[in-house]
Amino acid sequence: MTVPQPARGRARQDSIYRPGALGIAPLVPTEVTALERRARAAMSRKAWAYIAGGAGSGATMRANREAFDRWRVVPRMLHATSGRDLRTTVLGTDLAAPLLLAPVGAAGLVVDDADLRIAEGAHASGIPYVFSCQGSCPMEETAQAMAGTPFWYQLYWSTDEELVDSMIGRAEAAGARALVVTLDTTMLGWRTEDLDLGSLPFARGEGIAQYTSDPRFMEIVRERLAAGARSAQPLGIDPRKPLQAARAAKGGLATLLSMSRQHPGGVRDNLRSPQPRAAVETFLDIYSNPGLSWEHIATLRERTSLPVVLKGILHEDDARKAFDMGVDAVVVSNHGGRQVDRSIAALDALVRVRAAVGPEPTVLMDSGVRTGADLFVALALGADACLLGRPHVYGLALDGADGVSAVIDNVLGELDLTMGLVGAASIADITRDLLVPAY
Ligand SMILES: Cc1cc2nc3c(=O)[nH]c(=O)nc-3n(C[C@H](O)[C@H](O)[C@H](O)COP(=O)(O)O)c2cc1C
Repeated sequence: MTVPQPARGRARQDSIYRPGALGIAPLVPTEVTALERRARAAMSRKAWAYIAGGAGSGATMRANREAFDRWRVVPRMLHATSGRDLRTTVLGTDLAAPLLLAPVGAAGLVVDDADLRIAEGAHASGIPYVFSCQGSCPMEETAQAMAGTPFWYQLYWSTDEELVDSMIGRAEAAGARALVVTLDTTMLGWRTEDLDLGSLPFARGEGIAQYTSDPRFMEIVRERLAAGARSAQPLGIDPRKPLQAARAAKGGLATLLSMSRQHPGGVRDNLRSPQPRAAVETFLDIYSNPGLSWEHIATLRERTSLPVVLKGILHEDDARKAFDMGVDAVVVSNHGGRQVDRSIAALDALVRVRAAVGPEPTVLMDSGVRTGADLFVALALGADACLLGRPHVYGLALDGADGVSAVIDNVLGELDLTMGLVGAASIADITRDLLVPAY
């Protein structure tokens, strides 16, 4: 028998309607487009471009949402579902609900100490957070901010194998419960919004905190500095255009200041040191390995005792191969449409992957999940849990840790109400027969 949890949905509605009776509207909208609109107004142009932007024409992002629109829930009646239990277990991690926060790099574009605020929000709502390899805070500090709520660590495979080991070792020591290796970003996709602003957060030192806090990475930086590596890259400024040159000087100063602020140590000392810039250049050179292959993945069993999760799987043959190799789980994801334009929608890929691997293997999903009803549909189509991406960053932009928590609570409140209205008392009750294709 399942133990009913406090009804999340009713509690969430109450927490909004009660202040509403006093004329106070929620700071973090429940409706998706309103959430995006308000978050956009709270962010700089560069932050919005990086967070909301996608690859190319944005077709993959649109496809992610359209895939959800092609399914309809068929509620059952008179099922006496008075209590719901949203709990589940994934890879030995007990989850209060089948939801984790997706790894998001460079969230420091939105607020300072972004990862700490996200961790606090995740903890407040009892939801695990997958720390990004391109986080804005060292993983050890973010782990503290989780205050005992489980977390996983996401790895981008560097060209430096010692750095890979160092990051895995730190994640284990910090208490991560799983290692998530992201496969789909061996290079950055063609991100038109960022390109049109000429904006790459990492080039300003944003999102490289896992690296500048890593002993192996800093060893490489020091070696490169000692070897006098990398003189300044030509900037492509035409000296006959003085306005452009003046702007470049101002932009260069801002970038220098940003790098010095992000780098460990004092800003004044950093401004005088070549190290912050060398760290950025080293990061850009080695953070990811375009030569990543199954052979690299095969080495993981020897390198970590953590469950291994492969993120970015879209083809069912890749999913099969992953499980054949002994990988513990996959995340079906197209990186929120940020990598390959005109890619298959993640939800469509989920259906194919689940059909190919059968009911047993652990399959997670992200890319396009926005609401509790979306989560319900993904679970009914075979996901064991979903990762919530952009929406939690929008919450962060609007109200820091409280905003992150509000977004999670809204999604889970709607999931709980959907389950109660449809007749699913537990996560296991969310089954495929509760859906039909949209006509
Ligand atoms: C701003 C931003 C940064 C991201 N950074 C990472 C990252 O560092 N590592 C990673 O594996 N995925 C990263 N992702 C992808 C997310 O983990 C997730 O797959 C994606 O956000 C899902 O799409 P959705 O937000 O549209 O639902 C990032 C996504 C966004 C929006």
